[in-house]
Amino acid sequence: MKMNHFLSIADYSEPELMHILDVSKQLKAELKAGGNQPILAGKTLALVFQKASLRTRVSFEIGMHQLGGYAFYLAPDEIGLGKREAVKDVAQVLGGFVDAIMARVFEHKHLLELAQYAGIPIINGLSDYNHPCQGMADALTIIEEFGQLKGVNVSFIGDGNNVAVSLMHICAKMGANFTIANPEGYDMPAEAIKMAEDFAAVSGSNLTFLRDPQEAAKGAQVLYTDTWVSMGQEAEKAEREKIFKPYQVNQALVDIAEKDVIVMHCLPSHRGQEITDEVQDGPHSRVFPEAHNRLHAQKGVLACLLGGM
Ligand code: CP
Ligand code: NVA
Repeated sequence: MKMNHFLSIADYSEPELMHILDVSKQLKAELKAGGNQPILAGKTLALVFQKASLRTRVSFEIGMHQLGGYAFYLAPDEIGLGKREAVKDVAQVLGGFVDAIMARVFEHKHLLELAQYAGIPIINGLSDYNHPCQGMADALTIIEEFGQLKGVNVSFIGDGNNVAVSLMHICAKMGANFTIANPEGYDMPAEAIKMAEDFAAVSGSNLTFLRDPQEAAKGAQVLYTDTWVSMGQEAEKAEREKIFKPYQVNQALVDIAEKDVIVMHCLPSHRGQEITDEVQDGPHSRVFPEAHNRLHAQKGVLACLLGGM
């Protein structure tokens, strides 16, 4: 498969996304059967972070190692992307050292600038706009549970944030039905919705935009939530915690959904806020398999970008 970058799920067709997911599944099975072939031997990946991370950092480092390659972490204060040094300069310097860059940034435009100047593949490890690696891991988790994405009812409860955008796009591309309930003023960007509508027209998925979380939970096979206060929004914390209070995923909401509903969260979660302990630790929760699927999904992306798969 020909891949230049991995910046957005929207950039790939349904067969291409399915191919990446198939490679992810294959690599996961191979790992469990004893270990992966070193298909990325000699390949290097720089991990550039402007924000904190547990899952993204660890899964990329381990993933590269398992495929025979090498990844190294560059902490937010270390290279000061866009602060200590211009983004396009960092891009051109790293572009001469490594085979690919994974970057977690505040502003999505900085990923586009890295892609413009680095001359090597750029992987989006989360921006203010989207989180496509999370979307791929979420897709893998849903497929493992329901056998496919097509026709599965996915309901996102909370903020129309970066994680919601990538989840909506993977659902719309693959024919899953996507519903979101979010407060007024916290909608996903209009252009992200417009794109999803175009994808849904092709895949046959239904998209529904609501304010009422109970309404969104009806018929849900996947209940998904994320933090009410994303990284970079700390100044709005008090206001957001007030506005989002009715959007908690708790047992009462789970009881409205389908009886085999699974509960997902990209993590880190804020127990007692967007999700209760009872739900996160309960029988419907898939948050930890979902977190572990970051490793497998991203190995699929890496294998297609750098390993000729
Ligand atoms: N879900 C996710 O991206 O986690 P981290 O912020 O810990 O990488
Ligand atoms: N929406 C969250 C996701 C963290 C993985 C954030 O951007 O902080």
